[in-house]
Amino acid sequence: MITGMLHTHILMAILTIAVFVLQGVLAVAQPRLLRHKAMRIAPHVIYTLLLVSAIALLVLYGWNPLEFGWVLMKIALLVVFIVLGIIAFKPKFAQPVRVVAWVGALLALLWAYWSAVNKTVVPFL
Ligand code: HEM
Repeated sequence: MITGMLHTHILMAILTIAVFVLQGVLAVAQPRLLRHKAMRIAPHVIYTLLLVSAIALLVLYGWNPLEFGWVLMKIALLVVFIVLGIIAFKPKFAQPVRVVAWVGALLALLWAYWSAVNKTVVPFL
């Protein structure tokens, strides 16, 4: 059960990064495709499954996130990712702001991935 949930969580983490990169590429190369039904629904399904599997893992392990710095860091980074990800795809923001927000959101995801694999809060420390 735990192994299955962990594999689901890791798969959703990889899909989250892949879909976010794809959204960024499409925003530049084929903005029309971003409005396609599949591209509007898929990210929400993947992000929801990432969060649900994360919570399920905490419950299955019986872990209190407050006791693990790297888990707390991942929660904070997920919030940063959501906020910057919203800015990155809102047309009302200027293009340079959106690009910086997209890069920041991607870095937050990669940092979360790195923290999970290495069980540390700050990369390279
Ligand atoms: C609410 C946010 C999150 C929580 C509470 C959470 C929680 C967890 C937990 C409890 C584990 C199991 C660790 C273990 O088996 O030792 C885990 C593993 C993992 N998480 Fe998350 N996670 C969150 C978000 C993320 C995000 C945003 C990513 C990356 C995009 C991510 C990537 C991973 C990876 C790659 C692993 C497997 C690490 C390994 O054992 O090699 N997680 N997560």
